[in-house]
Amino acid sequence: MSFRNLGRSSFGKPENAGNLMPREEALQLLETWVPNERLRLHMKQVGAVMGAWASEKEGADASTAWKWELAGLLHDADWEKYPDDHCRIIIEELEKRNIDPDVIHCIASHGPSVFGVEPVSMMDKMIYAIDELSGFIHAVAIIRPTRYEGLEVKSVLKRLKTPAFAAQVSREDIADATTRAGVNLEELIQFIVNHQQHVS
Ligand SMILES: [Fe+2]
Repeated sequence: MSFRNLGRSSFGKPENAGNLMPREEALQLLETWVPNERLRLHMKQVGAVMGAWASEKEGADASTAWKWELAGLLHDADWEKYPDDHCRIIIEELEKRNIDPDVIHCIASHGPSVFGVEPVSMMDKMIYAIDELSGFIHAVAIIRPTRYEGLEVKSVLKRLKTPAFAAQVSREDIADATTRAGVNLEELIQFIVNHQQHVS
């Protein structure tokens, strides 16, 4: 991915804190904006893992867990139709819809080396840590005859050490993201496997 600096670090309006959108509306947005089923699945998987992390690891209540999930669900919403303006378009759309600034900042920080926005909150740091790894793990799973069934952390680690496998996934970003979030790579891989395998 080429560098597409968003050129700002503040997103949304503080008075919109707590403004989320119903799940139906978020899924509707995905259907409309993202014709590619595989990309939609990726976004649903990142959403599911984000929501699960918030409630299981951060002790979040249902509404906060949905906030995390929503950011995951929508983070690549403009990728397919606006590849050259990826991230900027969905950010502007969510600002127009008066969505919670935490969600918008989180989406803006899902690739600091691409968008030039530093992850600040734990939610920001986790979308950065989960996004690439989730896609990578799915790539590992779908080439196995039994897919997620019996997929072990060590197999994912082995693939990570194979530069030619899913070469577009930046191993440096994964290492940087897990360090910033202060999470253990093996544990995060297991958590992602557990929480994204049944997403459809
Ligand atoms: Fe993504």
